[in-house]
Amino acid sequence: MKNKTVAVIGAGNMGRALIGGWLKAGLVKAADIRASDAKPEALASLKKDFKVKTLEDNRAAVEGSSVVLLAVKPQNMAEVLAGLKGSVSSGQVVISIAAGVRIERIEQALGGEVPVVRVMPNTPALVGAGAMVYCAGRNVKPGHEKTVELLLGAVGAVWKADEEWMDAVTALSGSGPAYVFNLAENLASAGLELGLPAELAESLARQTVYGAGLLLKQSSESAAALREKVTSPGGTTAAALSVLAEAGVPGIFKRALSAACRRSRELS
Ligand SMILES: NC(=O)c1ccc[n+]([C@@H]2O[C@H](COP(=O)([O-])OP(=O)(O)OC[C@H]3O[C@@H](n4cnc5c(N)ncnc54)[C@H](OP(=O)(O)O)[C@@H]3O)[C@@H](O)[C@H]2O)c1
Repeated sequence: MKNKTVAVIGAGNMGRALIGGWLKAGLVKAADIRASDAKPEALASLKKDFKVKTLEDNRAAVEGSSVVLLAVKPQNMAEVLAGLKGSVSSGQVVISIAAGVRIERIEQALGGEVPVVRVMPNTPALVGAGAMVYCAGRNVKPGHEKTVELLLGAVGAVWKADEEWMDAVTALSGSGPAYVFNLAENLASAGLELGLPAELAESLARQTVYGAGLLLKQSSESAAALREKVTSPGGTTAAALSVLAEAGVPGIFKRALSAACRRSRELS
């Protein structure tokens, strides 16, 4: 991304993950990244690890930047937006990763004709394997979208969606890693129950979730086809899967995601 400077407001987990991804991909130069954060120690560690420019004033970070990434917690968005009012112009593009904060609210708070993109990332972005869905505000042009896709693509796979889908996206991929971690917890504790040593049960659960995820990602076959390949008629896997089906696991997932989607709607 030639001649693009990026301001990162909020240098926490996600801000750091994105900066790390851009530098690793050679997408943005360290000298072209200007990070600001309420915590001086977060800035100090960012400067030490990535050699980017750091500032304690959000407005100073935003000034002259082509892209502004808002990576603070949703509860801090009101103060951050109020502080930036009038300092972002239509020549810049704002990317917000704050869960549940609608595009219209950001546009109204910043004023003017600012292009705003809202993103729902997920935590595997921390290891470059995020699922990132973005939706674009009314002032966003194709050139802005290209920039956004490049920046997000440095830490995972990217899709575009309508903003009305963001609650469902939050329920599936935003919260999704927690369901998978919960699966790993349940596998480990069931293994423990069968008499395996705790460390072995935990390691096998972790490696099984990792390996199955990698296989699913790399294979051209569907999840159902891969599942069928592990399941011989009358075998061990079939015995376990019939217990899951009898317990109504598919229906339970539908209810769980509906609850997450409802909660996301309430929060935004
Ligand atoms: N779907 C997901 O799984 C997912 C995952 C990660 C993140 N997200 C979204 O990503 C965003 C960032 O999350 P995170 O985990 O990276 O949060 P985080 O680690 O708390 O980082 C946010 C940083 O912003 C700082 N900050 C607070 N108020 C500020 C202000 N007024 N000006 C400048 N900096 C300020 C915080 O400092 P203090 O600690 O002092 O407040 C903190 O260092 C959130 O909005 C979240 O919704 C979503």
